[in-house]
Amino acid sequence: MQRIIVAPSILAADFSRLAEEIHRVEAAGADWIHCDIMDGHFVDNISFGPEIVGVVRKETSLPLDVHLMIQTPDHYAPRFVKAGANSITIHVEPEANHDVGKTLRAIRRAGCRPGLSLNPATPFESVEPFLDTIEILLVMTVHPGFGGQSFRPEIMEKVKRAAEWNKSHKRKIDIEVDGGITAETARVSIQNGANVLVAGTSIFRAKDYGKAIRDLRGGLTRAMRTERHRQSAKMCHPELSEGPHS
Ligand code: DX5
Ligand code: ZN
Repeated sequence: MQRIIVAPSILAADFSRLAEEIHRVEAAGADWIHCDIMDGHFVDNISFGPEIVGVVRKETSLPLDVHLMIQTPDHYAPRFVKAGANSITIHVEPEANHDVGKTLRAIRRAGCRPGLSLNPATPFESVEPFLDTIEILLVMTVHPGFGGQSFRPEIMEKVKRAAEWNKSHKRKIDIEVDGGITAETARVSIQNGANVLVAGTSIFRAKDYGKAIRDLRGGLTRAMRTERHRQSAKMCHPELSEGPHS
């Protein structure tokens, strides 16, 4: 059972007090911080760049999950590596205008986890040639460019196929969903095989960030998750569990 990872998307945070918002979601149980980079070309919106990622880096030791919705990510990726990204996800669509395989290899060589994303209209077949080289598959559950959109349930077919691919290839690529993730759509996504939940509105618009994050995880607190994880590890490796001779 893969650990459920919650990655708040700071696109929905109050940028006038970004440092405080980062500290709050970290204290509330966030696992990663999701940074949406938009260039006004690949998507019809402009967000922020490597400087802001650098600011976030100084405020937290949580992994920074950088989502590049930009053209020519191969040109800009090194700046996000320098800013402190832990994983960098690029898009597979031709509009991103780069050599996907080459960019993924460059991200891995730079010491970051390579991720690949596909938009709702993009067939799963487009990412299949690259599944062997990535660590994160980001399945967009809305068309990228804005927060606050509604989740598209038909996308779960792709999440299921990714989970089947993991199983048949004995791999554990993180299957990440992004867009319209709430407690309800998180449950549906996890049931279909997702293990990383990106959420902007449902966390940063909530009064209680801790409750919002627990609800996304299906009500599990950090202690409960650890215990659950320990139990499943014990089931998989009974020889590791403590016994009279240990
Ligand atoms: C959209 C971004 C998402 C977005 C999620 O293009 O990739 O990360 O910020 O926001 P919500 O959770 O509000 O849909
Ligand atoms: Zn995103």
